[in-house]
Amino acid sequence: MKHLLKLMDLTTDEIVSILNLADQLKYERKNHIPHPRLAGKTLGMIFQKNSTRTRVSFEVGMYELGGSALFLSSRDLQIGRGEPVEDTARVLSRYLDGIMIRTYKQSEVEDLARCGSIPIINGLTDYCHPCQVLADMMTVREYKGSFKGLKMAYIGDGNNMANSLIVGGVKLGMQVAVACPADYSPAGDVTDWAGEQGLYTQYSSSDARGNVLLAARDADVLFTDVWASMGQEGEAEKRRAAFKGYCIDAQVMSAAKDDCMVQHCLPAHRGEEIAADVFEAHAGEIFEEAENRLHAQKALMVKLMGDDK
Ligand code: CP
Ligand code: NVA
Repeated sequence: MKHLLKLMDLTTDEIVSILNLADQLKYERKNHIPHPRLAGKTLGMIFQKNSTRTRVSFEVGMYELGGSALFLSSRDLQIGRGEPVEDTARVLSRYLDGIMIRTYKQSEVEDLARCGSIPIINGLTDYCHPCQVLADMMTVREYKGSFKGLKMAYIGDGNNMANSLIVGGVKLGMQVAVACPADYSPAGDVTDWAGEQGLYTQYSSSDARGNVLLAARDADVLFTDVWASMGQEGEAEKRRAAFKGYCIDAQVMSAAKDDCMVQHCLPAHRGEEIAADVFEAHAGEIFEEAENRLHAQKALMVKLMGDDK
């Protein structure tokens, strides 16, 4: 494992070994055991989109690992004025030990990895959000003990989160169900692959509520995400109409198992993809999920940037 560009590139063993190290680092942090495994190393963080969790968890994570992190807004970098990514990658490779990038096109992340000589971490593109899903899988295992026999369901837009959750869930052996409008399906390469593994079902009929209730039936964990992602703000109204019915509310919860978890990568829009009462009833595991970004990404960085990798 040289980079984290998308979860599809990782084997199940690699994902599990990141999760195991994340659990260990969480334990060490909780017990005030220092773990300076990246002492003297520097992570560059390029942001072309907003962020609260990703920025802070990577920055704090590097600090806790004994290294440092640089916030690099694309507004300030020459890349924002057209300097080619090929040159940026070769320059930054001479200063830094790793780069985390949040951007629009997946190809920009792949280009950075191709042209640079240091590990590249995808901090969200329009296509996927692998760091988030490492934290999500860590949280599911923390609450459920293992992935064996679990059913996860994703309700809503077939976006970057859906793409990564399908791949992560299937790689870890869960049954994955998705309910989404037919025009807002996850990426074809992801659904084709997941279908071949025999663990994927998608509900996209014209009956929105029927789709959601079928996907949620007997689920152990329900996931959702916003209906309009970053960069789609102009479509928000159209999307609100298209996603009517794709909300995790009390009726949906009653279709799932009694001890079903709810996960949301945040930020959340209460009253759209998730009802306020469901959000608050499951706030404990949702904010644990947010905390686990820190532990999962620390583990990832140790694996990619550590001397004993
Ligand atoms: N979930 C997530 O990636 O949050 P931010 O956009 O705040 O980084
Ligand atoms: N799908 C959302 C996720 C935010 C963490 C977005 O891309 O804006």
